[in-house]
Amino acid sequence: MQIRELIETLPKAELHVHLEGTLEPELSFALAAKNGIALGYDSPEELVAAYDFHDLPSFLTIYYAAMNVLVDEDDFYRLTWEYLEKAASQNIVYAELFFDPQAHTSRGVSFDTVIRGIRRAQDDAARKLGIETGLILCFLRDMSAQSAMEHLALAEPYRDWLIGVGLDSDEKGNPPRKFAEVFARARSLGLKLTMHCDVNQDDTLEHMRQVLEEIGVDRIDHGVNSLESDALCTAIREKGLGLTVCPVSNRFVVQSLTSREIRSMLEKDMCVTINSDDPAYFDAYLNENFVALQEEGGFGEAEIVRLVLNGFDAAWLDEPRRTAYKERVHAVLATEAAS
Ligand code: ADE
Ligand code: ZN
Repeated sequence: MQIRELIETLPKAELHVHLEGTLEPELSFALAAKNGIALGYDSPEELVAAYDFHDLPSFLTIYYAAMNVLVDEDDFYRLTWEYLEKAASQNIVYAELFFDPQAHTSRGVSFDTVIRGIRRAQDDAARKLGIETGLILCFLRDMSAQSAMEHLALAEPYRDWLIGVGLDSDEKGNPPRKFAEVFARARSLGLKLTMHCDVNQDDTLEHMRQVLEEIGVDRIDHGVNSLESDALCTAIREKGLGLTVCPVSNRFVVQSLTSREIRSMLEKDMCVTINSDDPAYFDAYLNENFVALQEEGGFGEAEIVRLVLNGFDAAWLDEPRRTAYKERVHAVLATEAAS
């Protein structure tokens, strides 16, 4: 089997994908028409031509503006369902999904509308597509800690629909410490914790120190710059923390898929995983991320398999389910070896 076919065939986990980042231009147009919203572009192609991002803030401006088309529960259902159909077609068997409720409540869309639409699609996908998912509520770090706390309170009636909380949006001047109280509260509710430490951000090493020592996260989103500090690498390895790296997303910031860094992490025995982040904007879902990474870094089969298995090792699964998923990976490899 060619390595590309192996990538496409292996059962995979995705742990870093923003549902709002899966909003395809065609779906934007369909929802805009349904909801009577003017997009300011004549076609999906014209909309894509206006995607002009080179760093996190320039991406976020476009990302938030596009969300105006998401209005009612069915819109959130459709957004989630279309991502999960795509994910299933790429042999993703397990996904942990981020959503940004503050980006919707701030526009007058209720928390209940958002989470009910997403949940209904998760349930349907489990039944009809056989894909298992968990949901992670992300707080927007450029909003206040008080707003984050208010949204955690809105989420409490839906506690059982969530597996964890995360932190995303503009990192500049918004350190992890700003959210220490709300993350402590989330932990007390039994939720897992993760935070973005995006690539090449100001004070990134101090931000990573805070997520490890002051917040006590269960995973780090991105975290590529940890390689600049032996102490951080050691702490991440010793705690067994997963790092959800997003190669194609990185390319918009550092002009590389960070294949060298990903290989270094593998060599240091850090639990690095491959993910798509905002696939509709970066034009790459999970398989495209793996294929592009493999091509840039010349990764061999053993490295690809390790990255795929790491996805399940870093997942917030109980041990029986983790073992069952990893056995599915080994079963495909055994079939391939026998052919
Ligand atoms: N929101 C969506 N994608 C993001 C990213 N890569 N970093 C921070 N916030 C985000
Ligand atoms: Zn992200």
